[in-house]
Amino acid sequence: MRHDMKPEEGALAECQIERLLADDQGFFKRLVEGMRCGLITVDHRGRVLMINELAREILELKEPLPAEVPVHVALSTHPRLARVLLDALQMSHLPNRAELELRTRERDGKTIGFTISPIRSEAGQIGGVALFFKDLTLVERQEEQERLRDRLVALGQMGANLAHEIRNPLASIEVTVGLLRRRFKGCHEELRLIDKIAPEVSRLNRTVTRSLEFARPLAPERATHDPRLLLEEALEEAENRFGAHEVLVERQYAEETPPIAADGQLLRQVLVNLMFNALEAMEGRGRLLLSARAISRLDRGEPGVELSVADSGPGIPSELRDKLFQPFVTTKKSGSGIGLAMARKIIECHDGMIDVMDGEDGGTVFRVRIPCLPDASEVD
Ligand SMILES: Nc1ncnc2c1ncn2[C@@H]1O[C@H](COP(=O)(O)OP(=O)(O)OP(=O)(O)O)[C@@H](O)[C@H]1O
Ligand SMILES: [Mg+2]
Repeated sequence: MRHDMKPEEGALAECQIERLLADDQGFFKRLVEGMRCGLITVDHRGRVLMINELAREILELKEPLPAEVPVHVALSTHPRLARVLLDALQMSHLPNRAELELRTRERDGKTIGFTISPIRSEAGQIGGVALFFKDLTLVERQEEQERLRDRLVALGQMGANLAHEIRNPLASIEVTVGLLRRRFKGCHEELRLIDKIAPEVSRLNRTVTRSLEFARPLAPERATHDPRLLLEEALEEAENRFGAHEVLVERQYAEETPPIAADGQLLRQVLVNLMFNALEAMEGRGRLLLSARAISRLDRGEPGVELSVADSGPGIPSELRDKLFQPFVTTKKSGSGIGLAMARKIIECHDGMIDVMDGEDGGTVFRVRIPCLPDASEVD
């Protein structure tokens, strides 16, 4: 009887339990099927007595099993687990809160946490074992992501310190180059050599500055924005930076494109890089298509906006595809390879996604999806 029950309540509960127990088979069946952990029981000959619904689900066992199948047959897709159960029949100390990696059709595999209890006969002898288990995969993934986040923070701090150390000597190299240029006024050969230093120094400076930006944690300041306006502003900036070109710019903006709650400056930075990449890929000649439309659902079931930047350039080199969004991946002589890595970081901190596809008639399409946030109008 529970301590917080009045005596008559306790009597009632006991009476209900007795009634449930009277329906022996049904009660235990419902108890086992309703358990929030997987359960497999095996008799002393190593034959499976029962497997509950959750166990079948975790182990991805499709077919219902005939009674008393040998455990290595029932769990033929999980030989390690079958081995653990068979070994348990011989053990004096059974595993408690242990973990096991299962081999599944999934690429990553599954981890289960399990405890094995003995099933004793009336005479007190071991008549079999019961395995209670839970799928820990999700917990493990979360822990792994936390560890990765910690590692990235540490790496980011190290990068920031390193960048700081590099920038100071770079600044003095720049000053010294200026002095040398003045000293060697009129000496063409010397000046030609000196002039080779400056662009390299500024390239290094740019890489360091952009790496610093990339390492720094983002704190987006959200406000309501019309995504079409962001595209237009980004286009202006990209065109100004690129200079003269012969690219035909087309727009496909859906009229009902809803506003988004985003950090305008950060989002513009993403779009400028996508457009600048496109202009560079087309070498200033081709067709750039900008589009914006509402999408009814993002993965998380929220309404959102999809923006895309499509070019008629040569497409993404196949060897680059898998690592395109990693930092320092570049094919350009003066590129730092931070643009797309930064773009992904910015989009992810807006709970959105960015991906790349081949264009229908060649070229490349970058697609950005951002949730609108239901209360977008209230954010300011
Ligand atoms: N639209 C595109 N078409 C073809 N290749 C592209 C396109 N966009 C990006 N790439 C490839 O992806 C690489 C990485 O792009 P990313 O923007 O990250 O760096 P980057 O442009 O090289 O340097 P930066 O850091 O200055 O932006 C580019 O060097 C280029 O090879
Ligand atoms: Mg770029």
